[in-house]
Amino acid sequence: MHNRSLVSITDYNQADYLEVLDRAAGFEKNPTQNLLSDKLVATLFFEPSTRTRLSFETAVQRLGGRVIGFADAAYTSVSKGETLKDTIKMVSNYADLIIIRHPLEGSVRYASEIASVPVINAGDGWHAHPTQALLDMMTIRQKLGKLEGLKVAIIGDIFHSRVARSNAWGMKTMGMDVVLCGPPTLLPQHTESLGVPVTDNVDEALEGADVVMLLRLQMERQSSATFPSIREYRDRYGVDLDRLSKLKENVVIMHPGPVNRGVELASNVADSECSVILDQVTNGVAVRMAVLYLLGGGE
Ligand code: CP
Repeated sequence: MHNRSLVSITDYNQADYLEVLDRAAGFEKNPTQNLLSDKLVATLFFEPSTRTRLSFETAVQRLGGRVIGFADAAYTSVSKGETLKDTIKMVSNYADLIIIRHPLEGSVRYASEIASVPVINAGDGWHAHPTQALLDMMTIRQKLGKLEGLKVAIIGDIFHSRVARSNAWGMKTMGMDVVLCGPPTLLPQHTESLGVPVTDNVDEALEGADVVMLLRLQMERQSSATFPSIREYRDRYGVDLDRLSKLKENVVIMHPGPVNRGVELASNVADSECSVILDQVTNGVAVRMAVLYLLGGGE
């Protein structure tokens, strides 16, 4: 992974993922290091974020680096018509690493081709969210002791989900048995490109699952109605205590956040002992420390 960009999880292999997960486990034991003390990291968020931006910025600071950037492009020269190309070329002159979240699929790949420093994708449209997949795999390995052979059901708005795409690829690469599930209108058309089975039957997806990951309905990316009502969606695809009681006793419940409580996940399940949502948040810092360290010039 050294000194390259991280645009998509598909650019890397199993050995790279393990390098990040092992390095992240080390950072979790020793969270404050001085390994990026000479580095300036730019966080360019063209789309809203809470945990990804703050965990990246926490990770930089724990490594002794410094952060510049913006959380709202409306207050930058983008609002005056400056292009992404010019923005990236300019920021390359200030920063040693650039972290970008952008609403357009492919924008971060484009930025990585223009930048003179490594670029990390913090989410581009529905395309990719590689550090989310890495932190999700770290969390599962931490809770269940392994990845290979585990069944993971990812349920929700698959069509608009960069988390589903990155996790499907990453988990399959790690030998996990992934199934994607959602309403037919929220499944991509060419599901074979995802490389894992896809179904609209939630009971089939949940059968024998070791891990269940719920996804939010991304209303901000939808221009027309894709299901009859929130209540119907909740009843068919949501996980509540009744549905949880039918799953494996030690099932792990995940959600990348933000959670729409009472829609895809009942509050009492989100806050139950099965839920690892806050572990995902914690591991997000360690995984991002590992990625920053490896891409930023660590040995
Ligand atoms: N999981 C995730 O990307 O959350 P944010 O949108 O809050 O960064």
